Amino acid sequence: MDPSRDNPIIRFTTFLWGMGTFLIFALLLAVIWFFNRAEPTTVEDAAAQPRYATRAKIDAAEAANISPEAIESAMVVVSKQLASSKPVAIETPAQIVPGSETSKKLAAAPAVDTKAIDAPAAADSPVDPAVMATGKAQFMLCAACHGQNGEGGPIAPPLAGSEWVAGPVSNLVRIQLRGLQGPITVKGKEYNMPGGMAALGFQTDEQIAGVLTYVRNSFGNKAPAVKAEQVTPLRGEVGKPQITAAELTKP
Ligand code: HEC
Repeated sequence: MDPSRDNPIIRFTTFLWGMGTFLIFALLLAVIWFFNRAEPTTVEDAAAQPRYATRAKIDAAEAANISPEAIESAMVVVSKQLASSKPVAIETPAQIVPGSETSKKLAAAPAVDTKAIDAPAAADSPVDPAVMATGKAQFMLCAACHGQNGEGGPIAPPLAGSEWVAGPVSNLVRIQLRGLQGPITVKGKEYNMPGGMAALGFQTDEQIAGVLTYVRNSFGNKAPAVKAEQVTPLRGEVGKPQITAAELTKP
């Protein structure tokens, strides 16, 4: 045994050195912990920062400009339009898929001779009140755009006193079945409503005859009744793009 190495004092200092080394490590860990306390930032987080900033800007701009009330009232108007424009599938010929059922059906539809439809009816023949009642119920649909009394409004021209309403029946049936777009002159004033009028081809022939009879004999209008037989021959046109005033017979 080497007395110079193995004695209590040397053992004690060795113990202290050991403790010291542990302490130094503990201190080192404490320092590392102190400088790394923050949440770790991933590359994804860093990349997303600009998006968060943009989102916040948009939210702030929306909150500053569009009130929930404005959105609500816009929804009331737009949803009405959507409800009545639901059946419009095709607005321009380009939307018809070549070779599709629709394209075959439209190509096969015979050209309709409108002369028979527009043959003048006896102007003084009485209008069936039952037909007027059907028409009045259907008119709810038209009133959304044309006004309760056909007076017209910001989104549609008037039906009261319109030369088109009193004019050829085939025009009116076509407008119902296909909708209408582009400039149209009514009572000397030109209208060209964005989007035009939606097709209302989901109505039955009787309903269309009814509503047209009603419109032709209300709000001061006076014209012969429209019969379902005048609507049926034009059914083949349902699905065609919205018609334009230029394609209609001049009233
Ligand atoms: C979604 C709104 C809307 C509805 C619903 C609507 N129309 Fe129209 N209508 C229009 C617009 C818009 C025009 C003008 C289109 C244009 O600018 O080319 C028009 C034009 C007309 C015209 C030719 C112009 C005139 O004023 O005489 C007639 C006739 C007509 N509509 C009848 C009807 C009838 C009948 C109904 C109900 C069965 C009806 N419309 C429902 C929007 C509508």
